[in-house]
Amino acid sequence: MKTKSNLLLLLALPMLMSCGGDGNGAASVPAGVDTAAVVYDNIMTRRSVRKYKPQPVERAKMDSIVACGINAPNGQNRQAYEVRIVDDADFIDGLTKVYVESNPKAAAEPGFKNMFRNAPTVAFIAADTSYDMSVIDCGLLGGNMVLSAWSMGVGSCCLGSPTRFMLETPAAKPYLDKLGFSDGYKLLYVIGFGYPDETPAAKPRRTDMVRYVD
Ligand SMILES: Cc1cc2nc3c(=O)[nH]c(=O)nc-3n(C[C@H](O)[C@H](O)[C@H](O)COP(=O)(O)O)c2cc1C
Repeated sequence: MKTKSNLLLLLALPMLMSCGGDGNGAASVPAGVDTAAVVYDNIMTRRSVRKYKPQPVERAKMDSIVACGINAPNGQNRQAYEVRIVDDADFIDGLTKVYVESNPKAAAEPGFKNMFRNAPTVAFIAADTSYDMSVIDCGLLGGNMVLSAWSMGVGSCCLGSPTRFMLETPAAKPYLDKLGFSDGYKLLYVIGFGYPDETPAAKPRRTDMVRYVD
């Protein structure tokens, strides 16, 4: 993963994309940095990661990643989401135990550590069900989070499957309850974060579904 260009972005992007721990900081661009190239490279090299080193992402770094998330565009600036970050192994492993009881084959996958594609830090994102655009807010939030994380050397994987499990499985409810989302907010998806222990290849993208209309 640490190609020459990635090294550049690893050095420069935390400065370029640092959104400030309070969520309101302005980015400062170092002199001589080709911002467009760095940002483009960060977007194009990001991959979903499913094998991680064991340590959780430092909370200060997660704060920066969340700050980038909440600085994404969002409908009417309602910021119609709630985010819960979990790096507690007891939570992750306890819920995974419930998951494996229902899906014993999952644990047989090589390198299986947990139901969040093995991530040691997990962000749970809930949408405000009273606002019809909230799922877009949540998606843009997560987009900024995974890209800013990548710029800091942190891998991630958006996850729908554990979300469905948590919403549909009575035995998972105590864990959902512990997240403490407010009334009117519903878990929409999960993003696993951690330091990558693999370098996945890019998956091909289609372009035939996009065209200009003259
Ligand atoms: C909404 C959403 C749900 C996803 N759910 C899962 C999942 O349950 N399990 C998984 O391994 N990957 C999941 N992914 C990751 C995608 O498989 C991945 O982004 C896609 O294959 C493209 O690969 P890339 O992210 O490496 O470019 C999900 C991604 C998104 C955006």
